[in-house]
Amino acid sequence: MDFRKALLHAILFIFTMSSSHFKAFFSTGKIPASTSSLSIKEQIEAESRVEHVGLLNAVEDLYEGIVIEMKESVDSTEFIPSLRASIVKWRQQGKKGVWIKLPIGLVSLVEPLVQEGFRYHHAEPDYLMLVYWIPDTPDTLPENASHRVGVGAFVLNSNGEVLVVKENSGGFKGTGVWKLPTGVVNEGEDIPSASIREVKEETGIDTEFMEVLAFRQSHRSFFSKSDLFFICMLRPRSFDIQKQDLELEAAQWMPIEDYVNQPYNKEHQLFKYVAEICRTKAKMDYSGFSAMPVAPDSGKETYLYFNNRDFN
Ligand SMILES: *[C@@H]1O[C@H](CO)[C@@H](O)[C@H](O)[C@H]1NC(C)=O
Repeated sequence: MDFRKALLHAILFIFTMSSSHFKAFFSTGKIPASTSSLSIKEQIEAESRVEHVGLLNAVEDLYEGIVIEMKESVDSTEFIPSLRASIVKWRQQGKKGVWIKLPIGLVSLVEPLVQEGFRYHHAEPDYLMLVYWIPDTPDTLPENASHRVGVGAFVLNSNGEVLVVKENSGGFKGTGVWKLPTGVVNEGEDIPSASIREVKEETGIDTEFMEVLAFRQSHRSFFSKSDLFFICMLRPRSFDIQKQDLELEAAQWMPIEDYVNQPYNKEHQLFKYVAEICRTKAKMDYSGFSAMPVAPDSGKETYLYFNNRDFN
């Protein structure tokens, strides 16, 4: 064997050595990798489990939120694993709030959902809305409803008489006070139609909405909600009163001065102002807010209330 051959062998040997060392190193390098491949395997298993349990059907909202409207009855032993897997996915996607609308028939899911960290948001007769905040940042979910909206109706006829009622329940029961018909605005109902409806329900009088004369905001009024109360002026279209017996002791047309001068209206500042506004309006030198229908892009009709005296 000449020197060159010997050298070549030596090089080949070194190469084989190093390649086996390399292999050894590589496989040593693989030792931690293989431990982590165990966890990868676990992850794959977990993912296939996720696929197996199935993710929840959800709709995304415009605020990185997720809305789930539960319909069919489900078993919590299937539902909770799907929910957990879904939350893992939503967290990865950067989703924030999760809303679950639970119909009353699925009431048994309330407890497991609360155990998963959900809390109540609001309730209606047929469902409970639960929420969960995914990120580790402070919860910026919108609050539940904060206000109730009411209307009071100032109905003045051409004889200068105002339509007044005596209530047979509530705070005015037994006080003898003649007051304006009042009521609560329904969901989806406009202030003008609410005032027309309340007058019709309580007194049978048909009216036409004219203006909002004033409004009052008060707090902690109904289950600690705030309250917006709109005093509306209406023009009567009929005269004969048909009192609603359930809520009312009496109803009548009363000269505006008699209404304003009732002792109760003198003693209570809010009522005093309202009565004064009504009296001033009766003299026609007070301009309230009329309702201007405007059609926004969404196509739902809405009203803008403003003093349009200067626009005509
Ligand atoms: C609803 O909102 C009020 C504030 O208006 C808040 O005090 C209350 O905790 C909220 N209720 C729920 C169930 O989150």
